[in-house]
Amino acid sequence: MKVAILGTGYVGLSTGVALAEIGHHVCCIDVDEKKIARLKQGKSPIYEPGLEELLVKNLAAGRLRFTTSHREGISGAEIVILAVGTPQSNDGAADLTYLEQAARDVAVHLQQDTIVVIKSTVPVGTNDKMKQLIEAYCSEDVSIQIVSNPEFLRQGSAMKDTLEADRIIIGCDDRKAGDKVRELYRPLNVPVVMTSLRSAEMIKYASNAFLAMKISFINGMANVCEAVGADILDVAKGMGMDKRIGNSFLQAGIGYGGSCFPKDVQALYHTTKQHNVDFGLLGETMELNEQQRVLLVKKAFERFNGKIAGKKIAMLGLAFKPETDDMREAPSIPISLELTRQGADVIAYDPVATSNAQKILGNRIAYAKTIQEAVAGADAVLIVTEWDEIKQLEPSKLVEDMNEAIIFDGRNCLNEEKIRSCSKIEYYPVGRPAIIKYAGK
Ligand code: UDX
Repeated sequence: MKVAILGTGYVGLSTGVALAEIGHHVCCIDVDEKKIARLKQGKSPIYEPGLEELLVKNLAAGRLRFTTSHREGISGAEIVILAVGTPQSNDGAADLTYLEQAARDVAVHLQQDTIVVIKSTVPVGTNDKMKQLIEAYCSEDVSIQIVSNPEFLRQGSAMKDTLEADRIIIGCDDRKAGDKVRELYRPLNVPVVMTSLRSAEMIKYASNAFLAMKISFINGMANVCEAVGADILDVAKGMGMDKRIGNSFLQAGIGYGGSCFPKDVQALYHTTKQHNVDFGLLGETMELNEQQRVLLVKKAFERFNGKIAGKKIAMLGLAFKPETDDMREAPSIPISLELTRQGADVIAYDPVATSNAQKILGNRIAYAKTIQEAVAGADAVLIVTEWDEIKQLEPSKLVEDMNEAIIFDGRNCLNEEKIRSCSKIEYYPVGRPAIIKYAGK
């Protein structure tokens, strides 16, 4: 099939590459000229494992094109997919400005009957509104059908999640249009759920809010475990073996970040308020997450008896999670702001997110090129992102050049046995007993 995609962010680009990979002819459109120029050369603007390889392969095969021209991109497309961002606006609602602009841009260039698929995460009722908007701007000779097709890919595994999705949600009022979109994805051999437009929109919010709630729940449990001397790893393992609960998204840590969970829980909460539906659980999920994001600062404050000023703190990891350079809602931001507010000298290391972090944190903190550089002379290390190279660190080597051998592990990712074999260490994980060894004392 001939497909056009508007927006070359994580969702648009991964979808475009995946659809080309399964044999469709895809043209990705974006207004960002620099980005499109890079993409034409086979260079991905985002760090995403496996994406660039498939990008180059499908460009070479002639199944994937990039353009800044809506006219060129949409021409002849049977399906147009809108995958532009819907960020959070000041009142917590989803900001639909980009989506409305994309819908108008598409509408004025449509020359044939077209199915417009909305992949962007949008509040319930938006697909209906987009249909009206496109119809208001497109030629009278053209008829359009809207299909809601929310995306569930995770950053860091976007290609795998797209090509091997758990399910594909297709929301439509017009069965023929829905079947055509089902046909588009058929080569993926993934189960399809066909629903109404509104249910499809809601499935996305419900899924993200549930997963965010699961994380806040396990973080709350971690804090209880710490208080009573239980171990959250064992508790999560024991809980997760119950098939009704499931073992994923039960990793306690320093809260969820990224471009989806924070804004989607907020947007769903906003919807409940608008409709006078009492759903305090969503508010609690967000509140708990806010507290968890600065948990390591609280722990450091307690360990140093309230005297953080002048301490050199090394922060390992900046990205909101491993395998991405994305800094959106990363816990490293509130951690840096709070530590520096209290007068600490923070030096951070991240294998790929440093330049994005610099745009947000500027020279408020220092940036190291290696882990060794970050920890040299540090009074404490905070582990913020569980990159493989951080998980695999030898704790005894890590603390060698530190001023004090104190580690706050926000991701419970260092090897416990190796920690225990250190002659001198103070190790503070999340929701687990601390390991404290004073050499020769
Ligand atoms: C999420 C959803 O998983 C995806 O389906 C949706 O389309 C977009 O939002 P993403 O934000 O890329 O994907 O990352 P994800 O792996 O889900 O992690 C989100 C956050 O939760 C991260 O900050 C991560 O560190 C945190 N997390 C995740 C935990 O703290 N504990 C867990 O057990 C899992």
